[in-house]
Amino acid sequence: MSTTTHTESYRQVEIPPIPYTPEVLIFPTPQEVDLCSAQVVQEQLMAKPDSVLTLPTGGTPVGMYRHLVESCRAGTIDFSQVRAFNLDEYYPIDPNHQASYARFMRDNLYAHVNMNSDRIYVPNGAAPDPDIEAAEYEALIKQYGPVDLAVLGIGPGNTCHIGFNERGSDVNSRSRYMALDQQTQQANSIYFAENEVMPTGSLTQGIATILEATRIILLAKGAGKAWGIQRALRGDIGSDAPASYLRYHPNVTFILDHQAAQYL
Ligand code: F6R
Repeated sequence: MSTTTHTESYRQVEIPPIPYTPEVLIFPTPQEVDLCSAQVVQEQLMAKPDSVLTLPTGGTPVGMYRHLVESCRAGTIDFSQVRAFNLDEYYPIDPNHQASYARFMRDNLYAHVNMNSDRIYVPNGAAPDPDIEAAEYEALIKQYGPVDLAVLGIGPGNTCHIGFNERGSDVNSRSRYMALDQQTQQANSIYFAENEVMPTGSLTQGIATILEATRIILLAKGAGKAWGIQRALRGDIGSDAPASYLRYHPNVTFILDHQAAQYL
């Protein structure tokens, strides 16, 4: 691994004197979270057909993608001019591996909508040097950004991660290699075969990268996210809860189901 960070020319996150209070929408069911988040994406693309998006993987956004695919088939949403950056990818992983995020995005969205393949970006989990890959990914986001809408999930347990920015992530971090927290590895091991050793690392957009999006929505469903949501919105802002950094951004909406919101 090289030690170059390639971050020298990037500006620092502006820390407001008083943190912002994110908008919080709480729905009775996870299905309503799916619908609401799909509507936000749809409205974004109607307002700006060539939007730049940051998109997540995982269990949470599957229902949102299902709605977006249905809307595209019905002709009410058009992806032809959209540019989309993944939040993250495992490292190392073959992009064709069934649990890779490249594969997830293909299976859940890109294979079913009219996305232009030249406008799809996922960090390459098979790149020989993760530092160079991450720096090139960051440079691409800078080239085509700012991201108009970033869609996020939140990590399990008390990881409070966004992207794969695990605890300890700096507010000024950029896209980089990041070792996965034990809790993240445990939660995501369900996507790997029993006899398989899952990757212990990732390539992720950094906190500063994410905070440069014009608008951010964070989706969370289920009791397993309740602690993290409470910590992110009500606890101190800091590196032990990376999702708390979202309170430095003026335009963030948390879209939650009742269970994820139970400690608010
Ligand atoms: C995935 C990502 C992660 C997930 C988070 C929650 O691209 O960036 O931050 O959003 O680990 O995962 P699920 O939705 O599986 O609970």
